[in-house]
Parts: sequence; C-alpha cells; structure tokens
Amino acid sequence: MADLIGNKVAKNFAENVEFSNNGNFHVKGAANYDWGMKDRLSRIFNPKSGKTVMLAFDHGYFMGPTSGLERLDILIPRLADYADCLMGTRGAIRSSVPPTYNKAIALRASSGSSVLQDDLSHESMVVGIEDVIKMNASAIAIQTFIGADGQKETIEELNKAVNFGSRYSIPTMGVVAVGKEMERTNQFFLLATRMLAEFGVQIVKTYYCDDFEKVAAACPVPLVVAGGKKIPEKDALTLAYNSIQGGAAGVDMGRNIFQSEFPEEMIQAVGKVVHEGYTDKEGYEFYLDLVNR
Ligand code: 5RP
Repeated sequence: MADLIGNKVAKNFAENVEFSNNGNFHVKGAANYDWGMKDRLSRIFNPKSGKTVMLAFDHGYFMGPTSGLERLDILIPRLADYADCLMGTRGAIRSSVPPTYNKAIALRASSGSSVLQDDLSHESMVVGIEDVIKMNASAIAIQTFIGADGQKETIEELNKAVNFGSRYSIPTMGVVAVGKEMERTNQFFLLATRMLAEFGVQIVKTYYCDDFEKVAAACPVPLVVAGGKKIPEKDALTLAYNSIQGGAAGVDMGRNIFQSEFPEEMIQAVGKVVHEGYTDKEGYEFYLDLVNR
C-alpha cells in the first residue's frame, strides 16, 4: 500500500477539460465496455442528452412506508412516464410497477439494516444475480459505507456485484452512503466516489457538495446526485441545476419529488433542467406554470 506520510494533496483536476476517453459513446468512461453493457447504460442515460432522471423510491427497504411512499401502486404510475430509470427494491418493483412500462430499472440489491438500529452501515448484496437478470435490471445498486463500521463488508459486497455484473454485462451503481455521523465534505466525496469508480462500478450515486466540479472531474464514470431530504421545490431545482452544471450526468431523486405537493409537475421540471438545459429559475417557472394550469 502507498505510504500515506508525505502524500501530496490532489489539486490538478482540470475541471474544464472534457473526459478524453469516450470514443463516440455518450456515457462517461464507458467507451471500452461491450454491447450489452452499453445497451443497458443507454436505457438509463438518454443517448440524446447523455443524462438521466432516476426516480428513487427504495426508502422502504430500511424505513418502512415513509411519507409519499405509502402506496407505490398509486404513486409510481403517476410518475414513471417522466423518469428515465426507476430505482427500487425487487419487492416494490415486482408488486407495483407494471412490466409493460418497459423502464430502465436500477435494482436496489443491498440491505441489512433498519431505522431501529443506530448503526445502519452493515449491508450486503441480498439479491441473487439470477433475480437481477430475471427482472431485466439495467443496473445493480449497492450501497457502500466509506469511513463507517461497515466499510469493509460493503466494499466486498460492491465488488461482488461488479464481478457478477461484468459476467452478464449489467452495470453496477455504487451508492455513496452518508450516515448520521458521517462526513459530507468535498474531501469525503472525492475519496468515496473515486474509490467506488476504481472498484469498477459503471455509475456512482453521490450527493452534491462544495467544489462538486472537482469531484465529478476526478471520477471517471458518471455521477448521479441524490436529492436528500425534502427542501422547497425551487431549492431542489437549484440542486439539480448545480449538479448538472458541476458535471453530474443526472439525478436520482426521491423525496424532493414524491414528497412534493405536486410530484408529477416536479419531476417534469427536474427533467427540463436535467435534459433540456433549463436553468433552475426556468425550471421553477415551468413547475409553477404546470401547477397553476
Ligand atoms: C438511500 C438511497 C436513496 O435512494 C436516495 O437517498 C435517494 O433518495 P432521496 O432523493 O430521497 O435522498 O439510495 O440509500
């Protein structure tokens, strides 16, 4: 292992220089993958915009029926048309998402903790690769707790998913966890996102932070940004806008969509910012227009 003493802090991120190994493929770092992997990534990341709006509704796997997700069978049909990709557990998707939607699925495949515990950092890959294939998932989503008690086991589980995924050309999405006591600094996100990319994931889900441009530049695969706890719609659209401007390839938003008073209008406004280059202000005006129609 490299000697940490005297290690020089990274600072030359060349944030304004395009990633240079993309060939003619629209997903960052994916030029050298095979056809199946590229096909699945193209279901997640729109080939025209290169971006994605993922709708995250996997919260129940450790929180139970949180606000907005009481009835997935009612909610998801209202929103699915406006999402590129649905992120949920196999139980939620099998029971509540009609297969006729033919949507890209980011299958939440790790679990192990619940809100009844103080330490949520112990998760393993609990969904077999056969089920991932049977559900025609476009990505396997595994949460990794860098810097927490469960770091080693979650890194091992993530690598297990990457190994299975490589065998069948299914991308893995590494999810950077931020527990109660865990850091949310740009140094933390630089470390965690880069570690996950180096383990071989094809997508990293992370959080927005200061100097996000550097985090995105130093991560050789696409970043999608989680929404986090519910904030006003205007602010959530600013988060989406800043993320895209900072180099994210999309958002994976949950509560800021399904806990909005107007979830359908909100997800459409997010789509305008992510895919169509709307500013946050234009996105919010679009949202208000829809709401007041
Ligand atoms: C939790 C997750 C969630 O999917 C993620 O937090 C996105 O949801 P939200 O936008 O509500 O934060 O991966 O592990």
